[in-house]
Amino acid sequence: MESVQGKNIVLGISGGIAAYKSIEVLRRLVDAGAHVAPIMTADAHRFVGPVTISALASEPLHTSLWDDTSPIPHTRLGQNADVIVVAPATARVIAAFAMGLSDDLLVATLIATRAPVVLCPAMHTEMWEHPSVVDNIALLRSRGVIIVEPQSGRLAGGDIGTGRLADPETILQAIDQVLSNNKDLAGQHVVITAGGTREPIDAVRVIANRSSGKQGYAIAEDAHSRGAHVTLISTVDIPVSSGISVVNVETAQQMQDAIAHVANSADVVIMAAAVADFRPVLSVEGKIKKDQGIPAITLEPTPDILAHLGSTKPAHQVLVGFAAETANLVDNARGKLERKNLDLIVANDVSAPGVGFTHDTNAVTILSASGEMKSVALANKRTIATAVLDSVVKVQSARRLPS
Ligand code: C5P
Repeated sequence: MESVQGKNIVLGISGGIAAYKSIEVLRRLVDAGAHVAPIMTADAHRFVGPVTISALASEPLHTSLWDDTSPIPHTRLGQNADVIVVAPATARVIAAFAMGLSDDLLVATLIATRAPVVLCPAMHTEMWEHPSVVDNIALLRSRGVIIVEPQSGRLAGGDIGTGRLADPETILQAIDQVLSNNKDLAGQHVVITAGGTREPIDAVRVIANRSSGKQGYAIAEDAHSRGAHVTLISTVDIPVSSGISVVNVETAQQMQDAIAHVANSADVVIMAAAVADFRPVLSVEGKIKKDQGIPAITLEPTPDILAHLGSTKPAHQVLVGFAAETANLVDNARGKLERKNLDLIVANDVSAPGVGFTHDTNAVTILSASGEMKSVALANKRTIATAVLDSVVKVQSARRLPS
C-alpha cells in the first residue's frame, strides 16, 4: 500500500448498512499514510457516528454543502483529491452521480472532480439487479468510473445474495491499483477465457460445470487496468469495464474457434475457463421427451484447447493454464504444465473451503516451467488475479534477460 502514502483521498460514505465497513477502509488508509477526507451523506449518519469517522480520519469530516466555513467545499475537495472512493455506494448515490444530480456534498464532489473515482456499491440483490441500477452502473463504467463489484453473501435482514459490499482488502487493492498506476502490460494483447462450457444434449439440456467465471473476469479487469488490450472469451455474462472486448461462446468447440482468431497475435493467453472434457457425440434436435425412455448418451472427447495452444504457440507468447484438482495438487499440476507445454499453471484445490468454483475467494499455487513455485493463501479473486499477472510479467522479464 505504498501507493497511498501522502495521497489525498476523499472517502464518501453513503447510507447503507455496510457503512460500518467503511471504518475499516478509513483506518487502513490512514495507517498507510494517506490524507483521508471523509464525506458522509445525511443517511450515512443513521448507520455510523460522525464522531467515529472524525476521530479516525486525518482530515476534517464534511457532511453538507452548507455547514462548512468554506463556501464551496465540493470544488476544493474534488480538485485536491488524487482519488475519490465511495464505500458503500447506495443506489441513490449511483443514480445521482450518473445523472449529474448534485443535490448533496458527496455527489457534488463526484461531479466537481477530475480525479479517478472508485465506487463500491452495496445494496439488496433486488436493487443491484434492477434495470435502473444496472444501466447506471454501465453508464458510469463507460465514463471510466471504477466499480468494485459487490460480493455475494449474507445481506441485511438475513437474506443471502449478491449486493454485499466488497471486503476492505478488495477495496484497498482497487485504490492501490488506481494510485500506483501500474501499466506493466501496456500495449500487450491478453486473451483470457472464463466460465464453464455447456455441451448440448438436446435443444434444452446441457452438460455443464460449476465454474462461475469470476476468476477469469478478475484477471481480465486486472490486465485491463495494467494497460493491456484484453479479449475475454466467456460463457457467462458478467458486466466488465468498457474497453474489454468480450466474445460470448457456449461450447468447447466455439471457445476453440474464438481463440483461433486471436491466439497468434496474443502476447499472453490465460485459459481460466473450465472446459468440458467430454461432450455428447450427437446433440438431438428438439427436446428428448420423457416418454421416449431413458436416453443413452454417448460421449466423445472435446478438443483440448490448451494442449493445442501449447503445441502451436509463438515463441514470445506466455501461455497459462489452470488446474482444478482435489488431490496431489502440485504433482498433477506440474505434469499438466509439462504435457501441455505451458509457461505457467495456476493450481487450486477445489475441495478446500472457500476455494475455486462459485466462491468470491480462491487459494492457488502458481508453478512455472522454469521450476518456480508461488503459493497465494485464501484471498479474493482480484488478489489472485494480480498474483497470476505478476507471474506472467516475471516470465516476460526473465525472457528479456541475456542468457
Ligand atoms: O487437463 P485439464 O482439463 O485439467 O486442464 C485444465 C486446463 O486446460 C484449464 O486451463 C482449461 O481451461 C484447459 N482445458 C482446455 N481444453 C479442454 C479441457 C481443459 O483448454 N478440453
